[in-house]
Amino acid sequence: MFNRDDYVKIKSKYEDIRRKAESNSKERIERLCKEIPELKNICDILSDTGPRVYAAALEGKEEFDKKFEDIKRENDALLQRKREILTENGYPADYLEVKYSCPLCRDEGNVNGRMCDCMKKELVIAGYSSAGIAGLCGRMNFDTFDLSYYEGAERKNMEIVLQKCREYAENFRDTGSGSLLFFGGTGLGKTHLSVAVAKRVIEGGHTCVYTTADDLFSDFRKYRFDNSDDAETDKYSECELLIIDDLGTELNGRDIVPFLYNLLNQRLNAGRSTLISTNLSNNRLLETYDERIVSRLFGEFLTFRFTGKDIRMQKLKKQL
Ligand SMILES: Nc1ncnc2c1ncn2[C@@H]1O[C@H](COP(=O)(O)OP(=O)(O)OP(=O)(O)O)[C@@H](O)[C@H]1O
Ligand SMILES: [Mg+2]
Repeated sequence: MFNRDDYVKIKSKYEDIRRKAESNSKERIERLCKEIPELKNICDILSDTGPRVYAAALEGKEEFDKKFEDIKRENDALLQRKREILTENGYPADYLEVKYSCPLCRDEGNVNGRMCDCMKKELVIAGYSSAGIAGLCGRMNFDTFDLSYYEGAERKNMEIVLQKCREYAENFRDTGSGSLLFFGGTGLGKTHLSVAVAKRVIEGGHTCVYTTADDLFSDFRKYRFDNSDDAETDKYSECELLIIDDLGTELNGRDIVPFLYNLLNQRLNAGRSTLISTNLSNNRLLETYDERIVSRLFGEFLTFRFTGKDIRMQKLKKQL
């Protein structure tokens, strides 16, 4: 499900846009009706259509069918004349119509009870920001992930990693998709693929939070240590996909172990997915964190080993 806060914000933005478009059209009508009496006359007759149809309906079916046809014919002629008057006076023929940003849903966000594509797009863009990947996902996505940076067996391995990550993101479900652990040396594409997964998962309408372990831990220290504001860290437990990047690069992570353990445990028990990337080996992870965390990571997460030669360096060399 899309982020609720984003949805509420966008829905209210749509209402504002719609109201503005309607009031702009009303202003144009009032102004031109003052300037052009014939136009005013036409607008008055047209705005009386509803009561005329209603009155005809009270006269029985046969009479109604006939009168309805008459009203329709008359209205068509008036609408045609209205367009002519506008063009004769140098305005576009549709000058008085409401100019919706999305003609399909008329800025309602829904068409026939289904969310309009325009609103889905807005939610996806807002989702990138809420997830914390807005500045990254233009560069780091599946389309920009280039396998030619890897060679031989390392490339074979990365082909599989890429394929599995694509499938994972494509088929992502609210719960039960499982969790992933990316590990391997620096510059091999862990962050790149994490962001690519996040982007696709958000496009599929799911909530996601991308954070570095550093930022996650400083949020825990800020909001959890003194129990001041749990709400600030709720997003980490509640989002459908949590991505913790660069686990192990933070300094003095041990004080955070109980919080990290609770978070991962809570998410695993709720069937929510977590993606962790690290360039620490199993042993180094054991030294840095509790065994309970490490055994959970390696036991319950599907692990992908990133192989190859530092792509950051490869790119730098190319530029020289
Ligand atoms: N397969 C790839 N195709 C294109 N660009 C890539 C690929 N892999 C990585 N890059 C780029 O190389 C740079 C380093 O990659 P990334 O940040 O994903 O590495 P990392 O494995 O997360 O490294 P670290 O462990 O240091 O965090 C980024 O700019 C990324 O976009
Ligand atoms: Mg990284």
